[in-house]
Amino acid sequence: MAKILILGASSTIAEHVARLYAKSENEILLVARNVQALTEISQDLGTRGVGKISTVVHDFSDIAGAQNLIKQCYEILGKIDVALIAFGTLPDQAEVSCDSSAMHKEILLNYNSILILLNELTPGFEQQQSGSIAVMSSVAGDRGRQSNYIYGSAKGGLSIFLQGLRNRLAEKNVQVLTVKPGFVDTPMTKSFDKGLLWVGPDKVAKDISKAIDKKKDVLYTPWFWWWIMLIIRAIPEKIFKRLKL
Ligand SMILES: NC(=O)c1ccc[n+]([C@@H]2O[C@H](COP(=O)([O-])OP(=O)(O)OC[C@H]3O[C@@H](n4cnc5c(N)ncnc54)[C@H](OP(=O)(O)O)[C@@H]3O)[C@@H](O)[C@H]2O)c1
Repeated sequence: MAKILILGASSTIAEHVARLYAKSENEILLVARNVQALTEISQDLGTRGVGKISTVVHDFSDIAGAQNLIKQCYEILGKIDVALIAFGTLPDQAEVSCDSSAMHKEILLNYNSILILLNELTPGFEQQQSGSIAVMSSVAGDRGRQSNYIYGSAKGGLSIFLQGLRNRLAEKNVQVLTVKPGFVDTPMTKSFDKGLLWVGPDKVAKDISKAIDKKKDVLYTPWFWWWIMLIIRAIPEKIFKRLKL
């Protein structure tokens, strides 16, 4: 039985990933702060035929509680085959720039909290010498832009951390997958105008599941963001700093 841990299980992308693992041979542990969402998602996964499902309620802004949380996850699942970290917030850059305490909260949740969870998860994966750790980063972390560099810097730092962790865990046969989606239509982006580059969470979830199966290191999803970011990263800073992005 494959054992799957989802930290941030109420995320729309995570919910779609969980559906892909809802098979009789799998056991899923969902962690989120929203009790109602946890109940609804676990009931839905039950009707889709998942082998075993459990839930833990946790607010990821409680960084001091991360150690106990991960201990509890290992106690419930034993071995973890796939761990997906999917929670996050997308702050309003203009608002947060004027409020350092709000900015601090955003950085703590989108960066510090994830690093501490990864740090607690790692020894178990090292011991198992198998499994996959997949983490939601973003194309926003590839280059700082005036419209979202607070969120972007958390994702950029996270991507570098994951690169280092991948390097550490490679010899232990543990996959570390950095997921870099572009624009995905979920509650996080509900206030944005949607256009051609937008996709639904089902597409991103399928790409994540395939990338886990193929033991990929970094996933740009959909694929065309790899090309878009190649161009964005190649623009000389002298020009880039003058663009209104
Ligand atoms: N959507 C995009 O365009 C996009 C693009 C690139 C990267 N991403 C990344 O993909 C991941 C998933 O986002 P999504 O698009 O699926 O958005 P979403 O549906 O809005 O999910 C975000 C989730 O984070 C949870 N969360 C926020 N603060 C939390 C806290 N303190 N404790 C526990 N849970 C908390 C929310 O739970 P509550 O329901 O309890 O608030 C929500 O379920 C995020 O890391 C995001 O940064 C998204």
